[in-house]
Amino acid sequence: MTGVTPSTLAVDPFFARLKALVIETTGMAFYADKDEDLARIVAARMGETGLSSCARYLDLIMDSVRGREEMDALVAELTIGETYFFRHKEQFDALRDIILPDVLARNESVRRLRIWSAGCATGPEPYSVSILLRREFGHRIAGWHVSIIGTDINQKFLARARDGRYDEWAFRATSDEIRRECFEPVGKQWQIRPEYKNCVNFQYHNLTRNRFPSLLDNLAGLDIIICRNVVIYFSRETVEALVPCFHETLVDGGWLVMGHAEPNIELFRNFRTVNTPGAVLYQRIDRAGPAPRPKPLPAGALPLPEPRRPRPPLRRRPAEASAPATEAPKPAPHEAVLRIRELADQGRWTEALAACDGLLAANALNARAHFYRALVLEQMGDLEGCETSLRRAIYLDRHFVLPHYHLGLFLWRRDELPAASRSFRNVLALLERLPEDQALDDGDSITVGQLRETVGMHLDLIGAS
Ligand SMILES: C[S@@+](CC[C@H](N)C(=O)[O-])C[C@H]1O[C@@H](n2cnc3c(N)ncnc32)[C@H](O)[C@@H]1O
Repeated sequence: MTGVTPSTLAVDPFFARLKALVIETTGMAFYADKDEDLARIVAARMGETGLSSCARYLDLIMDSVRGREEMDALVAELTIGETYFFRHKEQFDALRDIILPDVLARNESVRRLRIWSAGCATGPEPYSVSILLRREFGHRIAGWHVSIIGTDINQKFLARARDGRYDEWAFRATSDEIRRECFEPVGKQWQIRPEYKNCVNFQYHNLTRNRFPSLLDNLAGLDIIICRNVVIYFSRETVEALVPCFHETLVDGGWLVMGHAEPNIELFRNFRTVNTPGAVLYQRIDRAGPAPRPKPLPAGALPLPEPRRPRPPLRRRPAEASAPATEAPKPAPHEAVLRIRELADQGRWTEALAACDGLLAANALNARAHFYRALVLEQMGDLEGCETSLRRAIYLDRHFVLPHYHLGLFLWRRDELPAASRSFRNVLALLERLPEDQALDDGDSITVGQLRETVGMHLDLIGAS
């Protein structure tokens, strides 16, 4: 025991800095006026680490090498993971009656569906969506490439989500029939069956730190984003900054589902808003004029007027976008790559692939073009093509870090753990001599230090660090 108590910690001169760092890292402004709670959690962590001085603990979590693990451990205690299957039934009814029929009709020709559960905690939310999809739309989506991505800032929650095993309490809003059909009893717990688990993947993502849309993070061109009971802990400014990012991460016509009582709908004025009994839904509509495919809404559903403001310009609009329509100059490779990313951010996968192929037609040895082609193919469900393109990118430029990293992720998802850790180790070897704060080429402003940290995290999870 180190003897530090929450009350002495809360008045320590370094506590305010620690609090600011925690809020900045997690977005959880919730702790701004909860010194007592925060001090209790930090004091417990300090006890675990054997530190009694707040200044030393601050040094530890800011340390670029040792800090990551402790920050993860602290975040694991700070975050609130309250969740259960089919939480807030009205929103699942809206998914079943409004959102999924619309998205499935829209995607009929491409036979793909991409859903993001942001702040998924231990996983019941994305798994509930998977269950709903299979039970209600199983015939319609047979043979489709369905991808549900659950992300969270809490590594412990993510590990439990990947396990997919739950106590009785997680089923407090689930019928016995669904539980029996979709889960297998394991002792006193229930394990989600593989057919409902297979299309769900979990990855670390900090909403307030990791930029999105991001093709590199597999978070671009989504059909549905669900972010419930997460931003309630954030400041209004943070939420204001996040909402346009959600907008950009959706395809045209894509849907955003927030928690039922959050936040102020004024923040969503760039979306079309649909009010249903017990749920407010937001749809991204880019085209002028009436919303596409007007559909009968269930009794009680109230469509609100179209958004008044035009959507903000995309962050990565290429320089030639405003050039006259005549004889557009052939894009230079960098501009061409920006164009691929822009198309990908909008979920225009076929056009993004054609843009990659265009680049490769001009130069088949362009490692960047192969790399982006791999990312696009992965989103399109062509996993074999994705792997081939990643390996080509590496073959053509073995010092290009990101293809090694993505090959690691790809192999990890396929459960090829030794090969995945080899790829991750290649990343660490390539980063070895680079300065911490150097931005990576093509890395969405991710720095060497951040990638090192992320890769270290993956190696920890694989159990290979
Ligand atoms: C109350 S749970 C919500 C779980 C689920 N969405 C639901 O409604 O049942 C909030 C989750 O948000 C996560 N979270 C908090 N801050 C986050 C951040 N900056 N980025 C990503 N996730 C975050 C927490 O770790 C926690 O798992």
